[in-house]
Amino acid sequence: MKIYSCNISDISSSEFTEWFENMSNSRKESVKKLLIPQKQKSKIAADNLCRNAISDCCGISAEKIEFGTEKNGKPFAKGLDIHFNISHSGDLVVCAVSDKEIGIDIEKIRNINPRVFEKFADKKEAEYINSHKNGLFEIWTLKEAYFKCIGTGLGADIKNVSFDITESNVKCSEKGFNCLFRKIADGYICSTCERN
Ligand SMILES: CC(C)(COP(=O)(O)OP(=O)(O)OC[C@H]1O[C@@H](n2cnc3c(N)ncnc32)[C@H](O)[C@@H]1OP(=O)(O)O)[C@@H](O)C(=O)NCCC(=O)NCCS
Repeated sequence: MKIYSCNISDISSSEFTEWFENMSNSRKESVKKLLIPQKQKSKIAADNLCRNAISDCCGISAEKIEFGTEKNGKPFAKGLDIHFNISHSGDLVVCAVSDKEIGIDIEKIRNINPRVFEKFADKKEAEYINSHKNGLFEIWTLKEAYFKCIGTGLGADIKNVSFDITESNVKCSEKGFNCLFRKIADGYICSTCERN
């Protein structure tokens, strides 16, 4: 698995314009529907990042890559035997590319109501969250990465999967998944989940 990342604050407006032009019509339309400029930029940067990441891994030129979407929204590269996934938060965009099913989630560490975890954490996870500074974002990104790996997004019951985090290991309650934290940048938590 390879992880690629970019920071949208490093990207010039002429690059955004060029990358937007390279997007498919349907992805251009989804950018236009976003009301927040930061979100538009993230989506454009993500499209470009994934093209270059897949190009790097498969040796196909970036502009020839066509994206499709599974029924729950998970993107795939048409006609290529490669898996990838995207996440964006704050100024960062990340893309994971793998020969196995993959999910990635990044979250900017920010103040959020700690009670939000009651919706998605079981008892053991809640204990972990209460005793670790960034525990909420660690559990959150692991869960999102898992559901993005299996492709359901968070339409599925978030409590269907749980994580046991120790110093040396992240253990997923579902067998056959390799879940890890990824150090991308200070102030962000990123997790990947890959099907073995
Ligand atoms: C897909 C989902 C997971 C989006 O997560 P998100 O944190 O809002 O956004 P991210 O930046 O991490 O991911 C967005 C990317 O996921 C991809 N994606 C969309 N649907 C997906 C799916 N079903 N499976 C895998 N990937 C998916 C897309 O490529 C999208 O990027 P793009 O719009 O640039 O193409 C969505 O199911 C969701 O609704 N999330 C809600 C967040 C939440 O409530 N979290 C609670 C804490 S567990």
